Formats: sequence, structure tokens, C-alpha cells
Amino acid sequence: MNYRHAFHAGNFADVVKHLLLSRILVYLGRKPAPFRYIDTHAGIGRYDLGGPEASRTGEWQGGIGRLLRVPPPLSLRDLLDPYLKAVGPAGPDGHPLDYPGSPVLAQRLLRRDDRMLLAELHPEDAATLRSTLGRDKRLKVVERDGYQVLAAALPPPERRGVVLIDPPFEERDEFPRLVAALKSACRKWATGTYVIWHPIKDDAAVSAFHHALSEAALPPSCRIDLFRDETSADPGLRGSGLLVINPPYVLAEEAGLLLPFLCSTLGDPAETPFRWTLYNRDT
Ligand SMILES: C[S@@+](CC[C@H](N)C(=O)[O-])C[C@H]1O[C@@H](n2cnc3c(N)ncnc32)[C@H](O)[C@@H]1O
Repeated sequence: MNYRHAFHAGNFADVVKHLLLSRILVYLGRKPAPFRYIDTHAGIGRYDLGGPEASRTGEWQGGIGRLLRVPPPLSLRDLLDPYLKAVGPAGPDGHPLDYPGSPVLAQRLLRRDDRMLLAELHPEDAATLRSTLGRDKRLKVVERDGYQVLAAALPPPERRGVVLIDPPFEERDEFPRLVAALKSACRKWATGTYVIWHPIKDDAAVSAFHHALSEAALPPSCRIDLFRDETSADPGLRGSGLLVINPPYVLAEEAGLLLPFLCSTLGDPAETPFRWTLYNRDT
């Protein structure tokens, strides 16, 4: 377990993942009935953008750094607000000092009776996450394998909610593990919303993943991919993939409004703009 999200926090992939996660949490919060948020690979919760890891890669500058520099169109402010309010505070130069990971974002958007379950296998990271979130009776942090935690937690008592699966992709079998976990999870809780993030680096692995999922006849899903300039001299992560199983009905429409703005804003202004795709799968 060498992966440290602090090197990547606030990059373009985090922005699209966290922004769309915030839209799903806002949607769940519109009905009075409580919901549950489950994060299988939670990380440390908040990331210091001035710290050695973030400074070494500077990835956040092409992500949240760019987003904060470009005033959003008035028509998108309400959609961006719940996410942007979790970022910050800003330092004297206007740059954010830290960046919220998925647990901190969710903690902000949970209501009094909503609950969250967070799994983080790395002992130090789990301890940091606990101290970042503080005492909060709505949440539980477990230092265990996220897939095992998920298997034991479904269906949640509330029968409403969202699961974020955001693994580090250090292991070669991460995609097959994801497929197995999703098949089992959807058998136990077919109506839950599942958000899965994956890197777009190896096209064959991504295609095999989506093919395996379509063979599994899972509930309806929405696939939202964001691609950076593929001619870049140092492409690194070529794109960010998000799969949302049982997406809220408003998600595709909201993503269709937000993604063009993200594409024109994120990344290196000297390079070709990002592009995005969205596919709905009905069965
Ligand atoms: C991509 S980061 C998570 C980022 C976080 N979801 C966010 O959006 O802020 C992946 C995290 O998973 C943790 N991890 C690695 N293997 C794990 C496992 N089997 N179960 C739970 N956590 C794991 C790593 O220590 C790392 O903190």
C-alpha cells in the first residue's frame, strides 16, 4: 500500500469526481428520509495543498487551482456551490490552502439523521481521517479492506444512499475486483447508487471493465469520462472515468451543464482543451 492521495488531491480527476459526488449528495438530501454514505477507500479527508506531496506534483494547479481562477457562469453557480464551499480557505495569494477529500465533502452535505461509513485500510491514514473529521456521531471510520466493509454493510438500514468506490489502482486485479464487488453489492442492494472512479490509462483494461459490467446485467448506469490532451508530452493520467450505477435522474442533465465548463477550465491553458463523453446504459 504505497499509494498516497496527497500527491494527486485536487487534480482534474478529483474535481470531476467530487463535483458530481456533491450533486448526488445534494439530490439525496432533497427528500426528508435519511440516507447513508459509504466510502470504501476514504483517504485522509483533507489535503494540504502547500505540503510536500502536493507541491511536488503541482497537480492541483491544473484542477481546483484552475477552477477557482475562472469565474463560473451565473447559470452554474448553484450547481457548483456545495462543492466549492467545501474547498479552502484561500491563502493571501488567492490559492486554496487545502482540498477536501470525499469524506469531508460528504460530512458537509450530510444532515442530522444521515449516516456515513468510511473504510481506510492504511493505519496512519485512518487515524488522520478520524482526527480530521472530529467527533461526529453520524460517522464511523473503520480500518479495514473497503470491499469487505461494503459486503458487510449492504443493504444499509436506511435503504437510500450512495457508495463511493475509489481505489488506488495499485493492484493489477483492481478492475476484476471491482466487477466482483459490484455484482455482489447490486445483488444485496439493487436500488443503491454506486459511484466508481477509475483511471483512464489502459484502454483495453477500461473496455474489458465495461464489457464485464454489461455482461453482468447490473441496474441502469451512466458513464462519464473526461479526457485530457492526448498529444501532451507527458500525458500521465489520460483521463478520469466515472461510472454511476442508479444515477439520480437529474445527474446526466447536470453533468451536461457542468462538463463543458470543466473542459474549458481545467488543465494547462497551453494545451488542447479537455473533452468529455457521457453514455447512459439502461439495463
Ligand atoms: C484514491 S484514494 C481515496 C481518495 C478519497 N476517496 C477521496 O476522494 O478523497 C485511495 C485510498 O484507499 C486506501 N486503500 C488502499 N487499499 C485499500 C483497501 N483495500 N481498502 C480500503 N482502503 C484502501 C489508500 O490508503 C488511499 O487512501
